[in-house]
Amino acid sequence: MKLNSKIHALKHYIRYAWNSKTKFKIHSPFVFKFITEVLECSNKGYDNKAKDLIAYYRSSHEKINFALNAGAGSQEIQKELYRPIQLVDKLGIPAKYGKILYALASNPEIHQVLELGTSIGTSTSYMSAAGNKPIVSIDANPDVIASTKRAFDSFYPNHRVEFVQAYFDDVLDEKINGGLRNTLIFIDGDHNKDAVLRYFNRCLQHTEAPCIIVFDDIYWSEEMTEAWWSICAHPAVHLSIDLYRIGIVFFREEALTKEHFTLWY
Ligand SMILES: C[S@@+](CC[C@H](N)C(=O)[O-])C[C@H]1O[C@@H](n2cnc3c(N)ncnc32)[C@H](O)[C@@H]1O
Repeated sequence: MKLNSKIHALKHYIRYAWNSKTKFKIHSPFVFKFITEVLECSNKGYDNKAKDLIAYYRSSHEKINFALNAGAGSQEIQKELYRPIQLVDKLGIPAKYGKILYALASNPEIHQVLELGTSIGTSTSYMSAAGNKPIVSIDANPDVIASTKRAFDSFYPNHRVEFVQAYFDDVLDEKINGGLRNTLIFIDGDHNKDAVLRYFNRCLQHTEAPCIIVFDDIYWSEEMTEAWWSICAHPAVHLSIDLYRIGIVFFREEALTKEHFTLWY
């Protein structure tokens, strides 16, 4: 992370800590339910698959060429060959947020998941632990996606993840043209403003409530924050929730007004 991005992230963390609200200040029943059922989710099943994945990586000595990664951010990894276990902390979503992905994917209204940015599959493992719903997970790095697929096939033979090795732009339309109703979308790759807005706008053409989109690293850089704010301001977004590391937008049938919340987490 560059120095100006670090300053940007710190500045916004202070702002977030100052502005964020706890459940005691929330009057929206939907958001209160989100806090109690998602942020305070007590189901410990969320990290079963993540633990299996990490155990697999600990025992594996294969080396992955992360220099083949695509997108801003991922290309900051300089050394070419690593064992996946060496990068779990650097690339994978932390358990604190993996739990949110798990709880969102567990919602009975969610029937399928689309993930942009598979990498070593940490986030994929949290979402697939939620009832093994079908997941399409896309990444351009041929080495990493093949390794993650091998890991899943080995420790979780009944998984329902379709691993797609491609650039998002090349396959997104094909993967979403069946519609995005009842879908959880997790966007965790290509951290630049134009790209994030492009993926969001393309998804929007097929989005039908209920649908949820989660964006990782919304304060990672000024560009990412600008993208996040213009997504929140988009008239099609009924509800946006800022949790500092991630931002979540909801498309809801019953939404009457447009609302934005910054929640302490
Ligand atoms: C931060 S990592 C994803 C981490 C993963 N979600 C996890 O929690 O383990 C981002 C990944 O997105 C991929 N990526 C970035 N831009 C991409 C693009 N335009 N098309 C396809 N893959 C891309 C990179 O190759 C990298 O593996």
